[in-house]
Amino acid sequence: MSGRKPLIAGNWKMHKTIEEARELVSHLKRELSDLSEVDIVVCPSFTALENVGKLILGTNIKLGAQDVFYIKEGAFTGEVSPPQLKDCGCDYVIVGHSERRKYFQESNEMINKKIKASLEEGLNPILCVGETLEEREANQTIEVVTNQLEGGLSGIEENQLLKLTIAYEPVWAIGTGKTATPQQAEEVQKFIREWIEKKYSARSASSLRILYGGSVKPNNIKDLMREEDIDGALVGGASLDASSFIAIVKGAL
Ligand code: PGA
Repeated sequence: MSGRKPLIAGNWKMHKTIEEARELVSHLKRELSDLSEVDIVVCPSFTALENVGKLILGTNIKLGAQDVFYIKEGAFTGEVSPPQLKDCGCDYVIVGHSERRKYFQESNEMINKKIKASLEEGLNPILCVGETLEEREANQTIEVVTNQLEGGLSGIEENQLLKLTIAYEPVWAIGTGKTATPQQAEEVQKFIREWIEKKYSARSASSLRILYGGSVKPNNIKDLMREEDIDGALVGGASLDASSFIAIVKGAL
């Protein structure tokens, strides 16, 4: 950690009714409202965005969506646009999560369009990158992550980077209980920062936040946060339970 404010984002994935989402975020609000040293983001399903957004309005907990489409409006059944996300109070949006890449065939090109459209609307995109187990075992981690960065950030100007966060999420660590060791995560996160430095500048690289994601829990957050290039976490499973998410946020202090 080096002057960058930690960010902990909860990706609730396809979980929780509106009532359950309200309950969870009310609990977070009670416990975390005094905390200003960590940026906190919750990403409920589209169906709960508006309700959760109203409950956290004016607090230190920010609202994020889990995905977005890249066109402002039109005949795109089932999709949600950047202006619609802004309209229900979103500040952040997760783009290119590995589950989107895997189950919905999202390409780097599509992810790039989503990043651009989100930035244009003033949303803060969280771009997810990371390798599968087969890719890691074939020593392709750096190559895969480089492709995802090149594709995802193609045409993005340096002044737009201020709003961007990158999340390194090794696919083999997501939802498996198998966290990358802090050293494994740091190795790739340091590479990402160096890549940003080469493509943009040392200044942008040192202010960009890079999160780690993949089985982050209250008992491993502190060790992860000790690494120089880990600036926070994108939390899936452990963000569904108020007490474990609260412990993770506090563990990032
Ligand atoms: P997990 O998910 O914490 O359940 O491994 C992380 C993610 O998919 O962002």
